[in-house]
Amino acid sequence: MAQRSLIVVTGGSSGIGLALARRLRRPDADLLLVARGADRLAAAGRALGCETLVADLASDTGIAALTAHLAGVGRIPVLVNNAGGPFRTPLLAHDPDEAREAIELLYLAMVRVTAAAWPALVAAGGSVINVVSVAGTVSTGASPHYAAAKHAASAWSRGLHVEAAAVGVHVLTANPGPVATAAFPHEQLRGHRWLRHAVIDDERCAEAICRALARRRAESFQPEWWRIATVAQAVAPGTMARLARRSRERFG
Ligand SMILES: NC(=O)c1ccc[n+]([C@@H]2O[C@H](COP(=O)([O-])OP(=O)(O)OC[C@H]3O[C@@H](n4cnc5c(N)ncnc54)[C@H](OP(=O)(O)O)[C@@H]3O)[C@@H](O)[C@H]2O)c1
Repeated sequence: MAQRSLIVVTGGSSGIGLALARRLRRPDADLLLVARGADRLAAAGRALGCETLVADLASDTGIAALTAHLAGVGRIPVLVNNAGGPFRTPLLAHDPDEAREAIELLYLAMVRVTAAAWPALVAAGGSVINVVSVAGTVSTGASPHYAAAKHAASAWSRGLHVEAAAVGVHVLTANPGPVATAAFPHEQLRGHRWLRHAVIDDERCAEAICRALARRRAESFQPEWWRIATVAQAVAPGTMARLARRSRERFG
């Protein structure tokens, strides 16, 4: 009997994940979308004619449900680790719960979902897309726990790229800049005369990620010019901190 082939997209009910799912589906594989909210997920599943799984991937039960779902799957040609949301509590609130929740969703869920999918990814010689962020390499004080967790995800994803190549699995670290989505509306940026041009939509973001995947890139930014921020953070951290303080005074 032919082995079942399944493309898995976490956070596939909305935004970047849903736009990626639309582009990645193909006739020789089934498609699975995973998210918490049942109604929005069911609507996405109906629109794409695919299967869905309601699971909170920041929880043990959610990871167990996805692991059970993947048990009979022989091949996973593509896994998209994308589930996420904003964590905006300021650092001076000293909120260890938010720090933990950010790490559990934005970093540990990637590690755990990839572990559950690993045998089938290897069997397919598949690809993993880790949706990280420019905030995975730049930290300006805005959404600090988010940035810290995305830094962890970025370091892990870069390491996985190297290790996974040895067994024929390709790993792409995708780093979007601001994308207007349900959890990240970017209203302030979109309302600004110049800065609104820095915000892209989920379709453009997904298109750029798929292009990077087709070229088997190790890492990409959406749009690519966001790489400048990463370089600036590395070579001029003092200037970046000054700019961040100024923007904080202006935008709060
Ligand atoms: N938009 C941006 O500006 C931007 C920039 C850089 C990186 N990113 C990253 O892109 C990814 C997708 O975000 P998006 O902008 O597309 O936002 P979005 O439209 O709100 O999508 C987030 C998706 O993740 C799901 N999700 C959230 N928490 C979850 C959990 N605990 N378990 C399972 N699924 C969960 C959401 O569904 P439920 O809420 O129903 O679970 C939804 O399907 C995130 O990792 C985000 O950090 C976004």
